[in-house]
Amino acid sequence: MTFDVVIIGSGAAGLSAALSLAPHLKVAVLAKGSISAGSTAWAQGGIAAVLDAGDTFDNHIEDTMIAGAGLNNRATVEFVVENAPAAIERLAALGVPFNPGTSDRWHLTREGGHSHRRIVHVADATGWAVQQALEKAASEHPNIHLIPDMVAIDLITGRHVQDGSGQKRVWGVYAVNRETGHVEHLTGRATILATGGASRAWLYSTNPRGSTGDGIAMAWRAGCRVSNMEFNQFHPTCLYNPEVKNFLITEAMRGEGGQLRIPGTQRRFMPDFDAREELAPRDIVARAIDHELKRLGIDYVHLDISHRDPDFVREHFPTIAARLAEPDIGIDITRDPIPVVPAAHYTCGGVVVDLHGCTDVDGLYAAGEVTQSGLHGANRLASNSVLECLVFGVAAAKHINANWADLPPPPPIRAWDESRVTHSDEEVVVHHNWREIRRFMWDYVGIVRTTKRLERALNRVNLLKQETEEYYGHFRVTPDLVELRNLVEVSGLIVRSALTRQESRGLHYTLDYPNLLPDAVDTVLAP
Ligand code: FAD
Ligand code: SIN
Repeated sequence: MTFDVVIIGSGAAGLSAALSLAPHLKVAVLAKGSISAGSTAWAQGGIAAVLDAGDTFDNHIEDTMIAGAGLNNRATVEFVVENAPAAIERLAALGVPFNPGTSDRWHLTREGGHSHRRIVHVADATGWAVQQALEKAASEHPNIHLIPDMVAIDLITGRHVQDGSGQKRVWGVYAVNRETGHVEHLTGRATILATGGASRAWLYSTNPRGSTGDGIAMAWRAGCRVSNMEFNQFHPTCLYNPEVKNFLITEAMRGEGGQLRIPGTQRRFMPDFDAREELAPRDIVARAIDHELKRLGIDYVHLDISHRDPDFVREHFPTIAARLAEPDIGIDITRDPIPVVPAAHYTCGGVVVDLHGCTDVDGLYAAGEVTQSGLHGANRLASNSVLECLVFGVAAAKHINANWADLPPPPPIRAWDESRVTHSDEEVVVHHNWREIRRFMWDYVGIVRTTKRLERALNRVNLLKQETEEYYGHFRVTPDLVELRNLVEVSGLIVRSALTRQESRGLHYTLDYPNLLPDAVDTVLAP
């Protein structure tokens, strides 16, 4: 299938790009499952933007840089912050029903690290509203082809060109069609990676199943630099319930007065760790919880909003209130505290891009959580990530539109070798290796690290890489094998980056190098 532009990923980044390209170009948007199944639809708290008269761009820039522990690229931060109000207006124009304010147009909530109220939201299910609005607009556009259940395997590069001309350029993607099991190639003059993050590399994660770092791994294999992979954000408050996994309790709950307490004693512990208490940046809150869990040998801490008016709580957190009240959990958040633990949440590092979303390889762009754009530095400020998707999705599209005449059409591409057979052993190996990675990443590459644990993790990654590549080289490719191969690749990049950083900065905290070095330097891995 040939399009003008192939976009891999149908979340906020991919759909924003598609809508900006569609007036002129024919666009394919791929998702590896359903179109709505990425992290975007799961976003709860909201989107940060300077919309209050008392707030300024400088404040938002400053808060972003403080959270990022000196590693942010100031030009990127300014670019995103200054484009934020327009991005929110575009969503409102598409019909996103942001909660109205009493004096202001919209209600602005607060989250950790923000010095002002600046987060627009749709109660506690902002992402769902954003995803639905973008998806509706995209599905109604005749130039946009939404293609679910198409699992990208690898980018098409010069070495896949039929005549072997071998130019260093990306021409689209090979993808396995879940329905037929066959591998197809989708080509275009430009390709945009919008595949989201890699937080499912850890055992406990707030993310949907598909966050396996596919885009980062594909870009790396295609010759792109990858940066700052050691900075994976752990969200402090994921519901603790052995049966119900991956349910986030939004930071906005702490923004509206929610307090963290030790179960049984009612003691608040955040004042012992930071003057900003429950509204300290996430790395500080997550480490404080981790410290208390280990110190006291307990499984969870409590997040409590029951001191606030029940109607206020139900109005602001209807999705969380309803889910937690269901019989399998049975918590009334207007009366009971919520057991919470930290969980892997957001990939700050990723594919290196410039302000136009251009990667190191011609024809390949990237936007959203898959990238390292310079916005987040060593720790992302809450609610800056959907924003990054909205701004960079449009920036990549603008660059493609402006340079269309210089983008050559794709040459004939070799078809995928479909002669390989399925191996009966594959399922068990894939599932075993998937579990193994997520377990050792949790135990050895978690919130608090040591060099010894990282080295243990690297040994295991290397073994699994060898085994997975052997499978990949000999047997028929399946969606599960694609994800496992990427998870192994990305875990290797994370561990190598973590070993490279010999200091503690932002989200990367190691007992062997507890101090901050004087110079803030990005970790950059080159293939
Ligand atoms: P995603 O929305 O994750 O989309 C990825 C897309 O890529 C999907 O369509 C997927 O199918 C596709 N894809 C991936 N791999 C392949 C492949 N191999 N082949 C084909 N397609 C592929 N951020 C905020 O700013 N505010 C919040 O309130 C907030 N709350 C959050 C709450 C939760 C529970 C989670 C998990 C995240 C939250 N975040 C929040 C983070 C934010 O939601 C994400 O960073 C952002 O939505 C990522 O968008 P994206 O477009 O980059 O990727
Ligand atoms: C949340 O609602 O706590 C998530 C916000 C974010 O990840 O930015």
